[in-house]
Formats: sequence, structure tokens, C-alpha cells
Amino acid sequence: MKISVIRDDITRQEVDAIVNAANESLLGGGGMDGTIHRAAGPELKEECKTLDGCPTGEARVTKGYKLPTDFVIHTVGPVWKGGGQNEEQLLASCYHESLKKADERKLTSVAFPNISTGVYGFPKRKAAEVALKAVKEYREQNKTHIEKLVFVCFDEENYTIYNELLKED
Ligand code: APR
Repeated sequence: MKISVIRDDITRQEVDAIVNAANESLLGGGGMDGTIHRAAGPELKEECKTLDGCPTGEARVTKGYKLPTDFVIHTVGPVWKGGGQNEEQLLASCYHESLKKADERKLTSVAFPNISTGVYGFPKRKAAEVALKAVKEYREQNKTHIEKLVFVCFDEENYTIYNELLKED
């Protein structure tokens, strides 16, 4: 599993699955969630309605509809509340659970956004450290089908942080 970083819009990624930073209702929202729903078309929301939501730290899978990706893995990141509410473990769980869902379907390429670092307020550097540690742990502990994992950063700050952390690796 090769890990890379790009600066782009996640809805443009031609991979087997993109990950959506959703909320527990799974019925859409602002930020990237809204962009994904707009790009996928109304059928995505119709399928999401059948899922009955998703608890924080878990993941659910739908088809990608009009997106250039076969699947969308919806995961719900934690709202940052200062760090004492299990936020780091819940964020790590989002990455683990999303990778598990991709592997269950034998997918080989997955694009991740910077979960929780927008509206949910998770400090960006800490979130990036948690994300990289989580995906590397997953790679070490599992026989994965995933060959390509790309972190798609939308803002410059996240892109700079990920580049720094991946260089240190
Ligand atoms: N592609 C990739 N990344 C994006 C895009 C995009 N098109 N749009 C925004 N981002 C980045 C932001 O720069 C941020 O770093 O995604 C990161 C996460 O931001 P949010 O979308 O606000 O997600 P999050 O912080 O997890 O909050 C989730 O926002 O949209 C609602 O329904 C969602 O209630 C949920 C909450």
C-alpha cells in the first residue's frame, strides 16, 4: 500500500472509492459532504436514507453514482471538543474502519480527505499525525488489497503538513 498526498478536490479522484467526511445522519451537509452529494446526484442521498445513519468513528458504503469512483465510504469524524473526549481514538477509527470497508470489497485504490479538520474543528497537524499513524498501523496489521492510498488535501495548510509528515517518514 503506497501512501501519497495531492492537493485537489476529492470528487475528481478516479479511484475505486473516495471517503466522505459525513455526519451521523448520513443525509448530507455542507463542506465536502455537500460537494460529494452534488457531484454524485440525488441517487446518493436516496441510498444514504436506507442506511439509518452511522455512529462517530464508523463507516458505511454506498455506490458513487455520477462520481468517477465506484464507491463512497461515508465515515463520521469526531467534533473537536478540546481533546479530552476520545477525539484522537475516534478519528483513528474512521481511517481503520474505512480501510476495512474498502478491503471487504477488495478495492485497490482509495482517496481520503482530511476528516474532521473543517467544520468539526480538529487541529490540522494533530489530525494529520493521527491519520498517518492509523493508516500505517492498518497496513502493518492487515493483509490489504489496497495498493494506492491518496490523501487529498483541499487547503494549502493541510497539504503542507502532509508533505512534511510524509517526508519525515
Ligand atoms: N475535496 C477535498 N477536501 C475538501 C473538499 C473537497 N471538495 N471540500 C472541503 N475539503 C476539506 C476541508 O478543507 C477540510 O480540511 O475537507 C476537510 C474537512 O472539512 P469538512 O467538509 O468541514 O468536514 P468535517 O470537519 O469532518 O465536518 C463534517 O461537515 O459537511 C459537514 O455533513 C458534514 O456535518 C458534517 C461536517
